[in-house]
Amino acid sequence: MGIENSQTVRFAAVGDLHCRKESAGTLREFFAQASHAADALLLCGDLTDYGLPEEAKVLAEELGVVKVPIVAVLGNHDYESGAHADVISILTAGGVRVLDGEACEIHGVGIAGAKGFCGGFGRGSLGPWGELAIKQFVNEAIQEALKLESALAKLRTAQRIALLHYAPIAGTVEGEPLEIYPFLGSSRLEDPLVRYPVAAVVHGHAHRGTPEGKTVNGVPVYNVARPLLLRTWPERPPFRILELAREAPPAVAPPHERTQETVSRV
Ligand SMILES: [Fe+2]
Ligand SMILES: [Fe+2]
Repeated sequence: MGIENSQTVRFAAVGDLHCRKESAGTLREFFAQASHAADALLLCGDLTDYGLPEEAKVLAEELGVVKVPIVAVLGNHDYESGAHADVISILTAGGVRVLDGEACEIHGVGIAGAKGFCGGFGRGSLGPWGELAIKQFVNEAIQEALKLESALAKLRTAQRIALLHYAPIAGTVEGEPLEIYPFLGSSRLEDPLVRYPVAAVVHGHAHRGTPEGKTVNGVPVYNVARPLLLRTWPERPPFRILELAREAPPAVAPPHERTQETVSRV
């Protein structure tokens, strides 16, 4: 059955591919399986290992087998060489939609994407106090949370997915050493998900974390870091399928109703 006749939309989500020059030829079969299993592919950052343009070219080549839309966010590794703009250009030329505080629609489902940042969770969150460097560090997390919020606010679709690299909750980093929790994500990323509820959140980064958790408002959060999924499902290809009901796009509401909708979501 074609996607246009289907009642659901399936997304294959995976992060932390850490593509290297030597990865040429090794990811194609995996991507072909994901492409066959889903209507779109979601990539949750750390697409490359050192953020090198050469690595991005290898990844774009490997992704050539994918026959469905591809949406991605970058991860911290994609910034390592200071060439993230080139990485984005190469992947974009290869047909990947890279989101950095933006949103897009795939078969009527909204995708809001941002890399996110770290800083810790709950009472352990780093606060903007003291040295300028600490304030700048915390501000980076705040800016990434704002990017996610503005991406979510743009969407008018009935179903939405948040696409991140860093974790928005501690639940999906459990399994990692407690000492590095503050570097794996930030509760500041959870705040927009409360104001703009989504059907699901996917992220990567915590290779030794936990596959599933929930936000404070009960939204499922999936850690789809490829190394974690390889250990979780050794007998299956390492991607997670999200299947969402395909809902008809809402009729365009008069401006006053749109305002009301926005207010009621806050
Ligand atoms: Fe990673
Ligand atoms: Fe990472």
